[in-house]
Amino acid sequence: MSNAGLVMKLSGCVIVTGGNRGIGKAYSQALAKAGVNVAIIYKSSKDAPDVAKKIQAEHKNIKVKAYQCDVSDLDKTIETFEQIDTDMGTVTGLIANAGVSVVKPAVNLTSEDFRRVFDVNVLGVFNSARAAAHLWKHNGVNNGRGSIVITASMSVQIINQAGSNEPLTQVFYNSSKAAVCNLSKGLAAEWAPRIRVNTVSPGYVSTDQTDHMDKAIRDHQANNVPLKRFAKPEEITGQALLLLSEHASYMTGGDYLVDGGQLIW
Ligand SMILES: NC(=O)c1ccc[n+]([C@@H]2O[C@H](COP(=O)([O-])OP(=O)(O)OC[C@H]3O[C@@H](n4cnc5c(N)ncnc54)[C@H](OP(=O)(O)O)[C@@H]3O)[C@@H](O)[C@H]2O)c1
Repeated sequence: MSNAGLVMKLSGCVIVTGGNRGIGKAYSQALAKAGVNVAIIYKSSKDAPDVAKKIQAEHKNIKVKAYQCDVSDLDKTIETFEQIDTDMGTVTGLIANAGVSVVKPAVNLTSEDFRRVFDVNVLGVFNSARAAAHLWKHNGVNNGRGSIVITASMSVQIINQAGSNEPLTQVFYNSSKAAVCNLSKGLAAEWAPRIRVNTVSPGYVSTDQTDHMDKAIRDHQANNVPLKRFAKPEEITGQALLLLSEHASYMTGGDYLVDGGQLIW
């Protein structure tokens, strides 16, 4: 009798947008560990190809490669996903994870700030999902089937605090994550039954996005999480791998919190 425990059977290639650093890099590492090829999408970080090579070197039985692609450009995203399917084997899953924030008081936010955030967090996620659906529905890749996991945020439901009764001023970010959560449900409805679409909503995670904040803000936030700390990026990955796997064959249109209990309050 096998004592392997819970096995996530993933095959072919999974694409991770923003897979070169932060939560996305942890996704790339977890997928490589699970034995599936990984295509990392990045925008401009020069070390992304080296990140891919390093993960590849740790997992010799699979392929890991970085592709430069701005996900706010639909044509480039479709072209890149087709190239990945040719280079890396059948694309079976997507983690649409790339995201940005602009932290400013609302009265100082500009139309440019709006486009900067929504072009990545909403349009970029849509373009990535559409490029995957183009492969599956249009080109019949993987028998037209696939699983999409979108990184939303607990900020869909709450306004993060910078201090007691004091908001972290990022209304475009919060509203973009609420938008993408609803977008996910709409795509899940339109693309069922062959394509499943879900969101994972992290709480506070130690990454470049949060490490630059004042220590006082981070301490306040960490102290108010029931688990009393930020997550490490790798602690977010389990839910997404589950959603990509056959264990989630009846799960679509859902939003799954990985927030250290923050939404209890
Ligand atoms: N950190 C948190 O506490 C937290 C909490 C909840 C949700 N989230 C969400 O989790 C996701 C990852 O966050 P993170 O903290 O790991 O972020 P991060 O460390 O700041 O990394 C952002 C990633 O997105 C990529 N990216 C940005 N714009 C892009 C574009 N136009 N096209 C392609 N790639 C692009 C970046 O590529 P380059 O390296 O090339 O710039 C980078 O890989 C985001 O959606 C974020 O909103 C984070």
